[in-house]
Amino acid sequence: MPDLQAFAENLWIVDGPPVRDMGVMFTTRTSLVKLSDGSLWVNSPVSVPFDTLKRITQLGPVRYLLAATPRHVWRLAAWHTLFPEAQLWAPRPTPFTLKKGHLPFTGILGDTPPQAWKDDFDQLAFKGNPFIEEALFFHKPSRTVILDDLIQIHPRVEGKHFRNALFKLEGVASPYGGVGLDIRLSFTNRDLARQSLEKLLSWDFDKLVIAHGPCIENCAKPFVERAFLWLARPASAHHSPR
Ligand SMILES: [Fe+2]
Repeated sequence: MPDLQAFAENLWIVDGPPVRDMGVMFTTRTSLVKLSDGSLWVNSPVSVPFDTLKRITQLGPVRYLLAATPRHVWRLAAWHTLFPEAQLWAPRPTPFTLKKGHLPFTGILGDTPPQAWKDDFDQLAFKGNPFIEEALFFHKPSRTVILDDLIQIHPRVEGKHFRNALFKLEGVASPYGGVGLDIRLSFTNRDLARQSLEKLLSWDFDKLVIAHGPCIENCAKPFVERAFLWLARPASAHHSPR
């Protein structure tokens, strides 16, 4: 049953119903932040029961609806109907963008937070991949990184042999999870990706919210570093002097 769970100060998560993407069932999760001006920032909204929706609206006025990754843009449509006054923000469109109908977007999520949430967040658009340019957020007051698809952790499900084998092969199986193999392989500009990783690791964070798998309540930074080891700069070749 989806419900509002407090994760950090002024930061909540809501788990939604599973959805099928590319033939595989994925769990879904929304992250919500109450900004310092009292308004509510909602990332990757999921469908929620009426009671949960009521509790969300009691937190503050819903002013910003975001999809942090191209695969979550379709989810904004239902919430736009519920909160037509809220601004809509999405990542740079790619051939991978999953959307529903026409939505009046306010802007594209880039490397600089817009005025509306710059006091509470830093952000980056993780570059170097032509298919997925996911936006990542650093909630400064709670030292939390909010990330949707880039790192995933999929626990083993008893009896689901194909799914378990697939996630293991992808490198996203529990306990460490990681960046999926297909996503790793589709980073064609590694220099750009490393610049994004540098910015991510420059944030002084302790907690991590992800959309697919358990969130991490402390010491999240070494976990993120481990997930991106594949992107680490190769050691320069050494030539023995003749
Ligand atoms: Fe996702």
